[in-house]
Amino acid sequence: MGKVLVAFYSSAGTTRKVGEAIAAALGADVEDIQEVKPRHLDVQGPGGLGKFLGIMVAGAESGMGRATPILPSKYNPVDYDLVIIGTPIWNARLTGPVRAYIMRHKEQFKSVAFFQTAAGAEPSLRCFQQMEQACGKAPRATASFRSEKVKAGDVSAEVRGFVSQLV
Ligand SMILES: Cc1cc2nc3c(=O)[nH]c(=O)nc-3n(C[C@H](O)[C@H](O)[C@H](O)COP(=O)(O)O)c2cc1C
Repeated sequence: MGKVLVAFYSSAGTTRKVGEAIAAALGADVEDIQEVKPRHLDVQGPGGLGKFLGIMVAGAESGMGRATPILPSKYNPVDYDLVIIGTPIWNARLTGPVRAYIMRHKEQFKSVAFFQTAAGAEPSLRCFQQMEQACGKAPRATASFRSEKVKAGDVSAEVRGFVSQLV
């Protein structure tokens, strides 16, 4: 498969857990996309008005297709044969920081695959369409992970299924 980079954004750790498991299965490098203004948005955890407003803002940004500012990347995707890009689902769509990452690097992607994590049972096909459109490339494979299951423990079976589509 050659050199692989797994790049993801994660606000509450779910997408990070999946991304790191994929990277471990493939011996890939990890790009943990960081926002300039980090936010911790965990829909399941406790929280008050501040959290509620944060979720509303994030959902609205995704709804508008906004790219939100991110810190410089650690790795150059041009050095990789495959870049696997992961995002949480916000408001049934792609998140702003992952949109920003794709916009920054789209010319450097040779080949891409996508994954998402979401609270709901139905994967967001719109998210994958948005990622494909932003990359200007069809993914080699896609996978969706349910956050409840990811948090509960082992995702290795699903990860193996995804990875087997890539090799
Ligand atoms: C602002 C916001 C909007 C969300 N919108 C959706 C949604 O439309 N559908 C869904 O299934 N889950 C939604 N979720 C849940 C997240 O997609 C899910 O918890 C995800 O695994 C979080 O990833 P993370 O822990 O890596 O940040 C939303 C979460 C947030 C914070």
